[in-house]
Amino acid sequence: MPKVVEETTIVKKLVLNHRYFILELQTHKPLQHIIAGQFVQILVPNNSTVFLRRPFSIHDITNDEHLRILIQIVGKATFSLSQLSENQTLNIIYPLGKGFHFNHLKNNALLIGGGCGVAPLLLLARQISKLGIHPDIIIGTKSVTDLIEIDEYKKYGEVYITTEDGSVGTKGYVTQHQIFNNLQKYEQIYACGPEAMMKAVSKKASEHNVPCQVSLENTMACGIGACLCCITPTIKGNLCVCTEGPVFNSNELLW
Ligand SMILES: Cc1cc2nc3c(=O)[nH]c(=O)nc-3n(C[C@H](O)[C@H](O)[C@H](O)COP(=O)(O)OP(=O)(O)OC[C@H]3O[C@@H](n4cnc5c(N)ncnc54)[C@H](O)[C@@H]3O)c2cc1C
Ligand code: FES
Repeated sequence: MPKVVEETTIVKKLVLNHRYFILELQTHKPLQHIIAGQFVQILVPNNSTVFLRRPFSIHDITNDEHLRILIQIVGKATFSLSQLSENQTLNIIYPLGKGFHFNHLKNNALLIGGGCGVAPLLLLARQISKLGIHPDIIIGTKSVTDLIEIDEYKKYGEVYITTEDGSVGTKGYVTQHQIFNNLQKYEQIYACGPEAMMKAVSKKASEHNVPCQVSLENTMACGIGACLCCITPTIKGNLCVCTEGPVFNSNELLW
């Protein structure tokens, strides 16, 4: 689907807890060609100190023309977005980047998300489920209070939880979950989250010889390959995460 700049309307705002919220945007284009892992660049309204658009994964697509964006409040742009109300408009550029590859899947897959990195995995689980596959999904957070949208993920896969403080699920990091003792049963691993988590997952995947795709969250400015501020070193040279990613095969990254 060619990228467009569009004035969308916030048709729903869901506050999940003090740090996370969802904006559901009514678009004017059919969205069935969007691939999980692609993202939008949002122009932040009502804040004259935020000049650059901010990148956010497409969390879900509902009614074929509603985009859902899951946002964690971390700074001034995300705080400003949290102050918006239903019926306000939001200017976005979408769909950007290259998403996850999943059409080759035959049996199973493992999805791993940490922090706001869970965002693209809901659409991924939904799209994989259309192939008749019920993926395993591990969601890792610091504590039970950071767990969001679990019932949504359960619609498409088997959900496992890890928390660093052990308040729910397995105590520790995602890679300490017992699923990692039997990784070779998966055809493909997909991961999105903090860089340290993705590096640890990639290492385990390579030890068990399982292909792994990771979605990077490098700092971005233009989002369209013009400013080169998002480059990442790979075996194919330095690549722009915004146009050649954000999804990469982990064995192609030099990290
Ligand atoms: C492809 C991609 C997809 C993303 N998807 C999501 C998502 O689905 N949900 C979500 O909550 N967040 C997502 N992010 C991160 C989100 O873009 C940043 O949290 C947001 O831009 C921070 O803006 P801020 O002004 O609130 O924070 P700032 O005050 O600018 O910074 C706070 C923190 O966010 C980081 N950050 C700031 N600007 C950017 C930027 N332009 N790109 C990446 N990181 C930045 C900084 O390194 C810092 O650690 C994604 C980032 C990328 C690159
Ligand atoms: S953000 Fe400008 S080139 Fe990627």
